[in-house]
Amino acid sequence: QQKTRIAPSILAADFARLGAEIEAVDKAGADYIHVDVMDGHFVPNISFGPAVTKAVRGVTKKTFDVHLMISPVDPYIEAFVDAGADIITVHPEAGAHTHRTLQSIKSFGKKAGISLNPGTPVEVVDNLIDLCDLILVMSVNPGFGGQKFIDSQLAKIEAIRKRIDATGRAIDLEVDGGVTAETAPRCIAAGADVLVAGSAVFKGGPDAYAANIAAIRGDG
Ligand code: DX5
Ligand code: ZN
Repeated sequence: QQKTRIAPSILAADFARLGAEIEAVDKAGADYIHVDVMDGHFVPNISFGPAVTKAVRGVTKKTFDVHLMISPVDPYIEAFVDAGADIITVHPEAGAHTHRTLQSIKSFGKKAGISLNPGTPVEVVDNLIDLCDLILVMSVNPGFGGQKFIDSQLAKIEAIRKRIDATGRAIDLEVDGGVTAETAPRCIAAGADVLVAGSAVFKGGPDAYAANIAAIRGDG
């Protein structure tokens, strides 16, 4: 089994020093940089968009894992491709034609992901998995960092792990929301291989990032 990959969510970074924050988590052992894009419509918060994403793309070579919590999403795919996204993840509720949205992401040569809200049933995966490079299970209701992990999502992670294994393809199974050194082992046991963490990575300032990441990964 591959070592668990950690994707710090820059939503929890100091925005006044965003480039330096990304460099710091890169050096501290981040595998992906998780970019949470919120529009104040699909979720009740606004973060940043393609211009900010593009501005910080150059500070690291790490995979940019862009989580789009926006609706409509189709008109903005190309802007995030141009901004340097490597993986683009969308929510099935963000448009009427998620299959087409995933095709569009892949047509740009990028990896495509779908994200399931806590209330979204696992079956939504079944007709989309052929186009997926990543499946993201939300373990909080999206919109804000620092929320409490919702335990009922562990069964969903297990159910998706079975579906991924049945494909025989390498599809990332990512968990996002309330992931800490305490909740991470349960996510890993359920089959997750990429863990997003915002507050648990960025707490304590740059000197703490390496230890925070190691603790979430389970080698802390
Ligand atoms: C939630 C975002 C998450 C969030 C995670 O809407 O998608 O990525 O920033 O933050 P923590 O790890 O603090 O729950
Ligand atoms: Zn996210």
